[in-house]
Amino acid sequence: EEIKLFCPATIANLSCGFDVLGLCLDNVGDEMIIRKTSEKGIKITKIVGADLPLETEKNVAGVVALAMISNLNLDFGFEIEIYKKIKAGSGIGSSAASSAGAVFGINELLGRPFSTKDLIPFAMEGEKLASGSAHADNVAPALLGGFVLVRSYSPLDIIKIKSPEELYATVIHPQIELKTSDARSVLKQNVTLKQAVIQCGNLGGLISGLYTNDYDLIGRSLNDEIVEPLRSVLIPKFDLVKQKAIENGALGGGISGSGPSIFALSKGKETAEKVAKAMSQVYEEMNLKYEIHVSKVN
Ligand code: HSE
Repeated sequence: EEIKLFCPATIANLSCGFDVLGLCLDNVGDEMIIRKTSEKGIKITKIVGADLPLETEKNVAGVVALAMISNLNLDFGFEIEIYKKIKAGSGIGSSAASSAGAVFGINELLGRPFSTKDLIPFAMEGEKLASGSAHADNVAPALLGGFVLVRSYSPLDIIKIKSPEELYATVIHPQIELKTSDARSVLKQNVTLKQAVIQCGNLGGLISGLYTNDYDLIGRSLNDEIVEPLRSVLIPKFDLVKQKAIENGALGGGISGSGPSIFALSKGKETAEKVAKAMSQVYEEMNLKYEIHVSKVN
């Protein structure tokens, strides 16, 4: 018995939602095959496309799978093959795709003892291993699809957010690797009341815009004065790439997750593709390698 999975990439934070908001991309992601085996436990048998550890305890897919089955008393186990397409340290949820894929696939093979939402805490263990922090803003949208809000971490309260049909994301990855743990270490632990007020206003505005299909409000709300100024200095030509996206019709944009990828949201595929061209141009001109994706938010 086996299952073949698409493990989607995700954009976390969406500017004003640091650690609490993420969205799922519909055509960018890894593949994973999970097989039931007579041998107990979890074995990672193959990883293609990335140099990642095969040892179960060191691999995010292995760790989340172990966490998930540890209380189930199974007399069988699973082996996992991972075909990585999302680069580690790219800012579009590479570790989250593996974590979410492993728990989702095993749950299917077990006949769904857990609801999809119940899988999120297990998948968060993978994020803890990968980045030192068990953030849910990549694994939750990877598992649930679309936009997802982490209303609270303790207790965990995950809310799926409606979003407009024609919303497209453009994500460009300048080919440098930025570890989430490093990108978190540049952050300050305190914000001012003024910053908190601005952030709350934008996050409320973004959620409202998503629910009411108000594209202009979505665009106005994509701001971040807390994290973006500290992280954007780590990303080549961040300001120019974002500016080009907006000049070419994007509603707004920012750092994808912890970077270095930069995202823009647009109304309609055509605009998202035009935005992709404009963003690419910046790296073309400086001869920097990049990868670019246009994807429906799904
Ligand atoms: N919210 C996390 C961060 C996402 O910004 O560090 C990492 O992908």
